[in-house]
Amino acid sequence: MGTIKKISGPVVVGKDMKGSKMYDLVRVGNLNLTGEIIQLRGDNAVIQVYEDTSGLKAGEEIKTTDMPLSIELGPGLLGSILDGIGRPLLKLAEKSGDFISRGIDAPSIDKEKEHDFIATLKQGEDISPGQILGYVQETELIQHKIMVPPGIKGKLIEIYGGKHRVDDIIAKIQAEDKIEEITLSQKWPVRKPRPYKTKLNPINPLVSGQRVFDTFFPLVKGGTAAIPGPFGAGKTVSQHQLAKWVDADIVVYVGCGERGNEMTEVLMEFPELLDPRTNKPLMERTILIANTSNMPVAARETSIYTGITIAEYFRDMGYDVALMADSTSRWAEALREISSRLEEMPGEEGYPAYLASRLAEFYERSGKVVTLNNQESTISVIGAISPPGGDFSEPVTQNTLRITKVFWALDAPLAYKRHFPAINWLTSYSLYSDKIKGYYKSIGEGYPELIEKAMVLLQKEAELQEIVQLVGPDALPEENKLVLQTTKKIREDFLMQYAYHKVDSYCEPKKQYMMLKTIMYYHKKLNSFIRKDAKLANLQDPELDDSIARMKYQKEYAKYIGEIMKKIDSKEVKE
Ligand SMILES: Nc1ncnc2c1ncn2[C@@H]1O[C@H](COP(=O)(O)OP(=O)(O)OP(=O)(O)O)[C@@H](O)[C@H]1O
Ligand SMILES: [Mg+2]
Repeated sequence: MGTIKKISGPVVVGKDMKGSKMYDLVRVGNLNLTGEIIQLRGDNAVIQVYEDTSGLKAGEEIKTTDMPLSIELGPGLLGSILDGIGRPLLKLAEKSGDFISRGIDAPSIDKEKEHDFIATLKQGEDISPGQILGYVQETELIQHKIMVPPGIKGKLIEIYGGKHRVDDIIAKIQAEDKIEEITLSQKWPVRKPRPYKTKLNPINPLVSGQRVFDTFFPLVKGGTAAIPGPFGAGKTVSQHQLAKWVDADIVVYVGCGERGNEMTEVLMEFPELLDPRTNKPLMERTILIANTSNMPVAARETSIYTGITIAEYFRDMGYDVALMADSTSRWAEALREISSRLEEMPGEEGYPAYLASRLAEFYERSGKVVTLNNQESTISVIGAISPPGGDFSEPVTQNTLRITKVFWALDAPLAYKRHFPAINWLTSYSLYSDKIKGYYKSIGEGYPELIEKAMVLLQKEAELQEIVQLVGPDALPEENKLVLQTTKKIREDFLMQYAYHKVDSYCEPKKQYMMLKTIMYYHKKLNSFIRKDAKLANLQDPELDDSIARMKYQKEYAKYIGEIMKKIDSKEVKE
């Protein structure tokens, strides 16, 4: 217990704070604002406050809770919308109206709701940390596994199936020296990674239905990706597309310091969307963390930890989880603001020197693991970055690129030309491509080679464009003219994918393969004619071009593309 000595924006210095610990949660001032101790200097504690501090006065009381900032994990999380410190926004609004008043405490999950707990273990069994005692069928698809919290082991002496609220005791475990009571929920400090047994190499693709990602720059389940992009290049649309369509069991979407209306879009749109694989409402697998630009800056710093802790909790149940954070730059700016209030020595561009290590610690919580209960599961993390002026040499982009294995570079000129998604195919990369060759082969014969050839053509196009600018297209040899014709198809008919198109918003892997195969097959055919001295100008077939351009819009694509292939096959050179 202490008192306020000094207030500087979201940072408050408390005096007479003897006995408090780093990262303890505190209640600050008469308004009871939530804060966290981030520095101890003698009897003084520096506190970052998660709510607006205006009106606080020196001398007001600070109460410690002796607990680190934690989130309650349990049934009720799926489909919920939380703020940066894990409070449910709808509950907050209920308590205080549209403008959230300060000092409100609300647990992340509903404490009153009853859940039907199905016990799967019996009395007398030996229990180890993380073990699954039973489950609550939270949605039609997701069984919310009830796990023994990390650190607890012993003998199961009682277990009660049936209707329970999250704080009810559902099991008792005789540990070495005491009886542990287990409830349907558990608390976990958000800054501390949840334990697992071992880390594994991620090798299975995370399919997003976005052609440029899946085919050219793939991500894997348990992998990490960065999407840097200048203002308006499509970071948010890309993240939304991923949140909608990735083949993960659970999606955690962290809206971090972005404009409120972007989050509103998610909130309005998601509840109406169906998962293409399961036909179930997407919200049933989604958890949203919203900390928009008009919400307190310190809570933005925490929001990614709240998000990843929830991700780890579902990973521990054996699920594949994908987390999107939009945008990590806003998170880093929060870090910078707090650091400067602490009068720390600034590093590059004013960011604290520990920016790199904080980023690494965050991404490190992704990966494929063997859980405490011996399942293999994953967390994939996709972070958007908004470099000021689109300059990728700035610290947040650079430090992120050192960690993440996939780089999806959004490009202002492409966005300007309305080539969406505006992913630059020349500068983007994925270090997972080679690892999932086997997967590509399982989708279609020769798929890896097809991708490679298409990429070679795109690179060749970039070279040719320089020549064309100097001497015009007519000076090019026929073969190179064909390269330009084909790459235009790859760009426009394959890479471009309109997020708002009913059919094309999601493109299944088999369709991606068949589309690329068609374009490349046509290229090969025309090339064979050119080798026999035909002129490209004489080989034009606008009707066929048009059919190819419309492949992406076909729901029943197999038959449609089959017809195109037949047409290409039947082509002959006119002598
Ligand atoms: N895949 C896509 N399909 C169709 N339109 C797109 C796509 N990606 C981006 N756009 C268009 O670009 C606009 C800007 O995209 P978005 O809001 O995602 O940019 P951003 O990078 O998040 O911008 P900011 O820096 O302002 O956050 C969208 O409103 C949309 O019109
Ligand atoms: Mg955005």
